[in-house]
Amino acid sequence: MKGLVLSGGHGTRLRPLTYSQQKQLIPVANKPILFYAIEDVIEAGVKEVYVVVGPNKEQVIETVNSRNWDADIDFIYQPEPEGLAHAVKISQDYIGDESFVMYLGDNILKSGIVDFANEFKKNESDTSILLSKVPNPQQFGVADLRKDGSVKRLIEKPKKPPSNYALVGIYFFKPIIFEAVNNIKPSWRNELEITDAIQWLIENGYKVKSNIVKDWWKDTGKPEDILEANRLVLDDIEQNVQGTEENSRLFGRIYVGEGTEIKNSTIKGPCIIGRNCSIKSSYIGPFTSIGDNCILTGTEIEDSVILGGSLISNTGRLVECLIGRNVKIVRASRIPKGTKFVVGDYSEIDL
Ligand code: DAU
Repeated sequence: MKGLVLSGGHGTRLRPLTYSQQKQLIPVANKPILFYAIEDVIEAGVKEVYVVVGPNKEQVIETVNSRNWDADIDFIYQPEPEGLAHAVKISQDYIGDESFVMYLGDNILKSGIVDFANEFKKNESDTSILLSKVPNPQQFGVADLRKDGSVKRLIEKPKKPPSNYALVGIYFFKPIIFEAVNNIKPSWRNELEITDAIQWLIENGYKVKSNIVKDWWKDTGKPEDILEANRLVLDDIEQNVQGTEENSRLFGRIYVGEGTEIKNSTIKGPCIIGRNCSIKSSYIGPFTSIGDNCILTGTEIEDSVILGGSLISNTGRLVECLIGRNVKIVRASRIPKGTKFVVGDYSEIDL
């Protein structure tokens, strides 16, 4: 089985972060979201992985190649995000006549895909999809199931969802999917939808199997999804303090990277602090991820994600923040008093 991991698209719902960064590279618990997908695919025994790259392809290629993977990784360029089925279409020459797993690079699944992959390899089905019960099915592809649990119909972002079962962004395909993607037309949003391609398989008598995902699954399309995925991943983090600590109190499961100094501070896990950070006279609360090379002084922060290279000083309490790279947030003691901003397009500030 081969692997196809999607890391294209514009990520507009994650602006302003996605002006300078491809969305699948945004870190959750200090690791790019995309890496969780690639790891799951490799863990399922895949030795040949193709990553579909789009607008910021150089960034994605450089980040993926910065790590040694236990598989051959190559890249397929999709100039415009013309749909998930379009990504499959342009990958045909690379996948050839083999089965493959397609994994959307902005999805995170707690328990990986090993069991589902093994079942697909043994099973007779032409496609296997994963479903997860969600409170907001309108925002996903949705499955209409028969009484026996088999898939009757799939609909992309329906106004009136026939069930609460959302399509997880992980699909197992036999090569017949290439015939399906070549037989469908673009949707109302002008994309070649993978749901339509799978629907084509159903209507043409091919076997589509579904499995319900039991543990958590997260599609990280919006800022609140990143924070939620961060909480879910940190919930399982293991204790590992490599930096130094002086006159501080550390509670719970905490990961601290090499070269980080913590002084006169309180840290409550689960949380992760990257390498070469300086944390002074601060409180870092549960479910917080702080990237490499950050400086925090006189700050209280919890339930937040801060990317690398940021400076935060004397701000008061920060909660549920998603802060990009090399950001500076400080409380200055100047007159006249007031709040001063230099904020990029589509930023959000809650005072
Ligand atoms: O996350 C699950 C959902 O993913 C499913 O329930 C839906 O059925 C499926 O259509 C998809 O919906 P989204 O609206 O979340 O898809 P999005 O456009 O965000 O794209 C998903 C990922 O694939 C994202 O990481 C970007 C990448 N992508 C997307 C398109 C359209 C590509 O690499 N190329 C593309 O052409």
